[in-house]
Amino acid sequence: METASAPRQPETPPPSPASTPVPTPGPMPGAVALAAMDSGEIPRRYLGAAAWTGAEMRERDDWIVRLSEADRAELDAAWRATAQLPIESIGPRDFVLPALGPKLHALRDEIIDGRGFVLLRGLDIEGWPIERTARTWWGIGSWFGRAVSQNAMGHVLGHVRDLDYDTRDPNVRTYQTTERQYYHSDSCDIVGLMCLRPARRGGLSSIVSSVTLYNEMARRRPELAAVLSEPVPFDRRGEVPDNEEPFFLNAVFNHHEGMVSSYVSRRYVESSQRHPSAPRLAPLHFEAMDLLDELAEDPDLHLDMEFRPGDIQLLHNHTIFHDRTAFEDWPEPERKRHLLRLWLCPPNGRPLPERYAGRWGSVTIGDRGGIVCPGTKLHAPLTPVQDGAPRTR
Ligand SMILES: [Fe+2]
Repeated sequence: METASAPRQPETPPPSPASTPVPTPGPMPGAVALAAMDSGEIPRRYLGAAAWTGAEMRERDDWIVRLSEADRAELDAAWRATAQLPIESIGPRDFVLPALGPKLHALRDEIIDGRGFVLLRGLDIEGWPIERTARTWWGIGSWFGRAVSQNAMGHVLGHVRDLDYDTRDPNVRTYQTTERQYYHSDSCDIVGLMCLRPARRGGLSSIVSSVTLYNEMARRRPELAAVLSEPVPFDRRGEVPDNEEPFFLNAVFNHHEGMVSSYVSRRYVESSQRHPSAPRLAPLHFEAMDLLDELAEDPDLHLDMEFRPGDIQLLHNHTIFHDRTAFEDWPEPERKRHLLRLWLCPPNGRPLPERYAGRWGSVTIGDRGGIVCPGTKLHAPLTPVQDGAPRTR
């Protein structure tokens, strides 16, 4: 595995932890930041490798990691050795990668404690049956974390593909449409996408550092950054666990243990208002979300990425928001844009505040995230399946 170029020296030290707060002036930065939080104030700025801009990332390509011939040979041997095991049962002890495995763990550290993302390139999946591609991707993913359920059906291997749905339906999840997704986070620590086939036109992946968005918002309109540092309701879109409301509460910016962990999905915040029991949004919430959108849309801040077949993108949901542009697909079913998704729970994730448990089930590191509803049974379908929420069309 080779990085495309030597990593740039960060302008702001240090790369770990991923982001550290710059509080109002004081002798002990961390302590002052927490004290500020207690009095209802918010940190002024976070430093660290996770606070990047798209303009910086376009100047470098060390975030693209290319698999070598030796890496591909290890993956081939591991796939063959596990071909008879149920895919859901395969972990890193089964999917043995003597030299590549430790390198994948280093990438995982970069995702969790550093820049927050990586694009793994060089898997030549041309002509592979879906079984082999899915098993190879699953095996690679297992080195990053345990796969958790992506929907009420318990899918631990997700198919991102247009199923001809309409996102105006409040029970539709946008990944099964051709529409633009808008910047959002998934309900897991790390999300990974492997590209089987790109779209005919469009369908770019766009990512933005939510740490940078926070810094910009706190600089320009601190009162709006403060509004988004308090919980807001998110629609569950019909995927409701036992004894829970049809919405959950979380803040967009969660300041916890010296880090900011972010979570957003504007469509879901807005559609939460269809539930009479959800707290009402105020004009300031909309103003704050407008500014968040405006900042994320800034070409200097976000980074667009084109996927090639075999590319694997891995992201840290706590420090990165992701989006997908609308796309035009090929008419033939066998050529349609198709990505395989994993939601991963690493054993060394960051601490999260308790409020995440409303969506994530728990905040216990190594045992959190995913969507679990009554009757959810984990399985890894090899073809796209409707995700099971009730639909109006
Ligand atoms: Fe997503």
